[in-house]
Order: sequence, then structure tokens, then C-alpha cells
Amino acid sequence: MPIFSDFKSFEKDGWEQRAATYGKWSATSQIVPIAVEALNLSSVDRVLELACGPGYGTSEISKKTQDVLGTDFADSMITEAKALYPDLEFEQADAENLKFSNNSFDKVFCTFGVLHFAHPDKALREVCRVLRPGGIFVFTVWAPVEKSPFFGILSEVISQLGSFDVGLPDGPPIDDFSVKDRASTKLSAQGLLMTNFQMKDNVFDTGSPASEIPKIYREVGVRSKGLLDFQDQNKLPRIETELISRFKEFEEEGTVKMPFPYVIVTARKEQQHY
Ligand SMILES: C[S@@+](CC[C@H](N)C(=O)[O-])C[C@H]1O[C@@H](n2cnc3c(N)ncnc32)[C@H](O)[C@@H]1O
Repeated sequence: MPIFSDFKSFEKDGWEQRAATYGKWSATSQIVPIAVEALNLSSVDRVLELACGPGYGTSEISKKTQDVLGTDFADSMITEAKALYPDLEFEQADAENLKFSNNSFDKVFCTFGVLHFAHPDKALREVCRVLRPGGIFVFTVWAPVEKSPFFGILSEVISQLGSFDVGLPDGPPIDDFSVKDRASTKLSAQGLLMTNFQMKDNVFDTGSPASEIPKIYREVGVRSKGLLDFQDQNKLPRIETELISRFKEFEEEGTVKMPFPYVIVTARKEQQHY
């Protein structure tokens, strides 16, 4: 059984290895332009993207304002983003410990990063610090596990045929930001007022048959890969067979298309906190 000292290094290590395969499945790229709309950008806005991955958000934002910086804590993601968008600015940064000055951005953007932060409260405090008063923070997270076959089925199959106790470090509660009241409480504790919370329908078209499902779990996520890889190797074939069989239900003409709802949250920095 593996031993990881802490959740943050587990995530960092995992994302460093994920840059090459992450874009292949396009689970988030179709959502990014919708989330960027919520930023209500003007051409003079200075924007920071956190946890930018391969840079889709920064690229989309740059269509509205040239003053955008994409950041991620994984060096390999920054390398990938620079290769994909050589004209845009990217740099390595930990969302929980930003080096930028107080009140220095009009808007902060983060798609599907918050639920990977080891200390999301620290990251929210940093967002509040670097935003100017009245500045806007837009982020997305996946909908709660029970609304999402991708997470729900994995959880059911592991409960039935495997174990969650495989040495992965505990992270923060997965649904802290996908439940409206909890998200609002978390944001306001760090000086951010939630102004909009919207659950959105979405379909993840994997472009692949159900037989590829174990591979997809390993190539898009860090926790899902760990959860599969560290199962008892005698039980793993049954777990994978069951996952494939459960996702047959979502296969149409050889391609798995599953509901993959998400949440877009908008928050505003209310006053001068810093
Ligand atoms: C699911 S990916 C999202 C990437 C991209 N925003 C998108 O929507 O496709 C999560 C990203 O969060 C980054 N990440 C996780 N923890 C971070 C932290 N503390 N600071 C900055 N980036 C972090 C990972 O490196 C990874 O690129």
C-alpha cells in the first residue's frame, strides 16, 4: 500500500504526470467558454487564471482582454500551456500562496481547480487578497457525486468490490463548493460574497467505447487513478470489468456519452480587506 505524506504533494505529483494526456479527453474544454462568459469581461480587465492546466481558460479570456496571466502549480501543465498558446503569458504559481500584490487583478478565474486544492480556504483568501475591491471571482466545480455517473459509479463499484482505504491521503470534502449554502459560507469566510450559483447540465462525450473507461479514469484524474491503481491487484480485474459493464448503459454507437453536470459560481470581493 502506498504512503503519501500529504494530499498536496499527491495532487502535485499526479498533475505533473497528467499534462500530456489531460487534453485528449476534453472533459472541461467545452465548459470553459461558458464559464468565461460569467466573467463579463471588458478589454481593460486584468485577469488571473488559477489552476489553468493546459491553458484553455487563459486562451478564451485573451479573446476579450490582452491582460491575462495563466498559472498552475504543475510545471508540466505550464509547459503544455506555453506550447499550445505561445503568444500568451503563463507561469508556475501555487493558488494557496500567490506572489502577486494586494488588489492587483480585476477578475480571477478557475475552472475545476478548487476541488483539487489541499487548502481551499487558503486559496480563497489569496483570491480575495489579489482582487481589487469589487473584483470578481468565477470558478467551476463538478456537481455533487450523486448527480454524476463518473464519480458516482466509481464510488459504488469501489464500495462493493474494492476498498477506499488504499493509502491515498485525505483531501478536503469533495462537495464543499458544489452545494450552494456550503459554497456561500466558505466564500464569505474569506471576504467573498457569492452573487451567483448555477448548476448546469453537461454531457461528457468521451469519444470512446465503455472498454476504455478504466483508462479514462486514469488519464483525466489524479484521485481516480490512485483509487484504481492501489486496489488489491487480485480484485482489480473485477472492478474494471464492473466499471466497463456499468458504463455500457451510456454507450451510443460505440461511444460513451454521460451526463456530467457542473456548477458555476460567481463571487465578489466586497470591501477593502487588504
Ligand atoms: C482538473 S485540472 C483543471 C485544469 C483546467 N483549469 C481545466 O479546466 O481544464 C486541475 C488543475 O489544478 C491544478 N492545481 C491543483 N492544485 C493547485 C494549486 N494548489 N495551485 C495551482 N494549481 C493547482 C493542477 O495542476 C491541474 O492542472
